[in-house]
Amino acid sequence: MSAFTPHNLPYSLAIAAASLVPVFLMYVVFRRPGTIRNIPGPPSPSWIFGHTLQLILPTRYGEHEFGWQQSYGAVYRLKDCFGVRSVELLSSGLIPSQQDRLMVADPAALHYIVNSPHFKFSPMLENLAYLLYGPKKSCFCSCTVEEHKSLRAALNVGFTAAAVRSYHSTFEKAASRLTEELHNSSSTTIDICPLLSFATLSTIGEAVLGQSPEELGEELIRNNLEIVAVAASHSRQQILAEAILSCLPAWLFRAAAHLPTPTLRTARDAKRLAYELGNRIVQEKLVAARDGLDTDGDVFGVLCMDGSGTTKNGLPGDVVAAQTALFLIAGQETTATTLVLGLRELSRLPEFQANLRSEIMAKTGNIAYDSMPLLNSFIKESLRMFPILPIDDRIAREDTIIPLSEKITLSTGEEISQIVLEKGQIVSIAIAAFQRLESRWGKDAHEFNPNRWLQGSAYKGAEALGPYANLLSFLGGPHSCLGWRFA
Ligand code: HEM
Repeated sequence: MSAFTPHNLPYSLAIAAASLVPVFLMYVVFRRPGTIRNIPGPPSPSWIFGHTLQLILPTRYGEHEFGWQQSYGAVYRLKDCFGVRSVELLSSGLIPSQQDRLMVADPAALHYIVNSPHFKFSPMLENLAYLLYGPKKSCFCSCTVEEHKSLRAALNVGFTAAAVRSYHSTFEKAASRLTEELHNSSSTTIDICPLLSFATLSTIGEAVLGQSPEELGEELIRNNLEIVAVAASHSRQQILAEAILSCLPAWLFRAAAHLPTPTLRTARDAKRLAYELGNRIVQEKLVAARDGLDTDGDVFGVLCMDGSGTTKNGLPGDVVAAQTALFLIAGQETTATTLVLGLRELSRLPEFQANLRSEIMAKTGNIAYDSMPLLNSFIKESLRMFPILPIDDRIAREDTIIPLSEKITLSTGEEISQIVLEKGQIVSIAIAAFQRLESRWGKDAHEFNPNRWLQGSAYKGAEALGPYANLLSFLGGPHSCLGWRFA
């Protein structure tokens, strides 16, 4: 049995967090009051946890969040753990300021935040990205705006509509394997979660890296399952530890990342295994391309097709290899869980299910997915109802002003149509809440109703949000999901 279990995770993080208590106490003593303090929000249930337990550990999807939105509207204020989450410490020169988190589901505000260079990943997300994906320069989440732009442009050639069409046979093979497995099962009850999890991992292995599950290797597959378990197992202790850890200056966090705890070892292994695999594949594909062999058919192959000994767009081979962990982690559980939640809803709609099955069965040969209205409406509704990232945190790099679609009333009685934010303010992009706004999706916004998409867009708004169907499930703007067509 692996040494890593979700139960020793809090313990591991607690060790890493223990040394930070003095830093944390200094912050509590010297922090300044927030600038968004007049924006109404629910009273905080706990000084230690603020609203974080309700936000991160609900018993059902959006349990508290959708209620807060009902009471306070599309923009409101929550409290974080001791307020420490909003502290971007000395590392980037931002000043500790608020203990408030601004929750935003207002469409104009979201459009501004996801497209604006005035926001970047929160310290917690940057820390996580460092742990899993490696150094800043080649990491999507923490490189500079300019580095991100050129990295993304270079990698995008593997994710265009034409490139993704060339992976279809791989997707279809994976679907056939899974169907066969379900048909062959003698059990009347099947747990679809591990089956879909493995199916998406092997699909990404084949369509991104050109590797079968055997070629990915047992160690990498086991490690991948452990990483997914870490991501899925949040506890009170972990929330506290993460809040304290996000106060660390970057250099101290990086030093702490080398501590010999099981969780950190699992994260280090993930980064190492993915890099070794990616590097081997890139080298093999570059040699194949130089020898004039066809390397088309998977993302890394498309990137290495240049044939001149470098990857397309002159991207160094080691930078492509450094993306392996991101593609494996960002693509796998996101897709698998979206499918699981969609299938659960489908099981409650027998008539729609029968019609969808007929639509699928009627297709043979080269399938044009765009010409399958029921399948597309099912996919859109699954993504709308259950975005796998219900909230995504950002921090203001500098003072900025957020526009609003609808005015809000402050606790002072004043009405405002824009919010002045101070540098260092944490903002939550409330993706799930936006996708349940009755003003934008209709009175039945909380119902799973794929038919809403059959007459075109279900979104009633002028702002164009997200790369797909005006949904933010793949986010929007320069950091929107690179793999949305692939997904
Ligand atoms: C249903 C499935 C998926 C969902 C809902 C999803 C969602 C997201 C979201 C919300 C982000 C933005 C995260 C942030 O900025 O904080 C993102 C980024 C990203 N996703 Fe996906 N994703 C999915 C599948 C995939 C797949 C299959 C791949 C690749 C094979 C992929 C690759 C990426 C990459 C590379 C980024 C970073 C983009 C950047 O920062 O420029 N995703 N995804």
